[in-house]
Amino acid sequence: SERVAIMTSGGDSAGMNPAIKCATDYAIANGMEPYLVYDGLRGLIDDKIKKAEPEDVSGILHRGGTVLRSSRSKRFFDYDMRAVAYKNLKDKGIGKLVVIGGDGSFNALNQFHADFDIPFAGVPATIDNDIPGTDYCLGVDTALNVILNSVDSIRDTATSFSRAFVIEVMGRHCGYLAMVSSLACGAEICLVPEIDYDLDQMGERMRLEKENGRTYLIAIVAEGVKMGDYLTRWIGDTLKMDARLTVLGHTQRGGSPTVRDRIMAYHFATNAIDSLQRGETSRIMTYQDGVYGTTSVREVAEGKAVMGEKLLKLCSPLCR
Ligand code: F6P
Repeated sequence: SERVAIMTSGGDSAGMNPAIKCATDYAIANGMEPYLVYDGLRGLIDDKIKKAEPEDVSGILHRGGTVLRSSRSKRFFDYDMRAVAYKNLKDKGIGKLVVIGGDGSFNALNQFHADFDIPFAGVPATIDNDIPGTDYCLGVDTALNVILNSVDSIRDTATSFSRAFVIEVMGRHCGYLAMVSSLACGAEICLVPEIDYDLDQMGERMRLEKENGRTYLIAIVAEGVKMGDYLTRWIGDTLKMDARLTVLGHTQRGGSPTVRDRIMAYHFATNAIDSLQRGETSRIMTYQDGVYGTTSVREVAEGKAVMGEKLLKLCSPLCR
């Protein structure tokens, strides 16, 4: 039977474990022999590859991160290292790969496919939700819920103390987490790379709100705008409010995957195995406009993640 190796690569995210489990179980159910690669691309080179037993993936569905561990490997850029990785797979009779990760990982696997003709299927997973061609990446919903819980907690102290809180959220260059959490948490201010902001207008809006009795405020800023410190000082100086900055950082990457991330993992992982069994060689699983599908690595590499028009519109008033 066909041997397929399953791996995680790049930044970890919640939902990777359900995807690993599901791809493994579904591969077995469909007559394939699954293998597991530990440590991501680095593990391909260092031969951390073993045959998957059902117990390897039992009891992991509810855990954040990835039991296969992950890495961002520079060595994989080197052809000679990829040749080592290829030999490791070939020695075990493995001819296909499922890679759960982000666009960087898909590009790496695409190069690997071009070199050695090893087909792969990509499962989009990153809290940043910045992979072109899909509306959803595994880990986003869990990260949003972590942010929501943190902001709700901060709101308790903000209201008790008449303070302003600036909360910096992750997303690399993408403002998706900041926009959605601003709406879900009722933030007064939201700064993201996708929308031009106007501090003067914002100052005026907040001054009026203060006059009308506002005693505290919550601002959510995407890390990509690099405005956390500045905005905190600006609020203190301009609005004369006691302001504090909270950088949520890597808390956002952890936590037990939410229902949404588990179910999306089932869809993406089974679709990835199906794609390989159809004989496709380099497709990335997608969920777009409510429909599951696949796209090419090239579209992922050359495209740009688009934020929904409606989302941008709803958030615009929070940027000025
Ligand atoms: O891509 C996921 C992410 O968490 C980004 O949101 C963030 O900018 C980056 O990774 C942090 O990278 P590292 O974990 O290497 O500090």
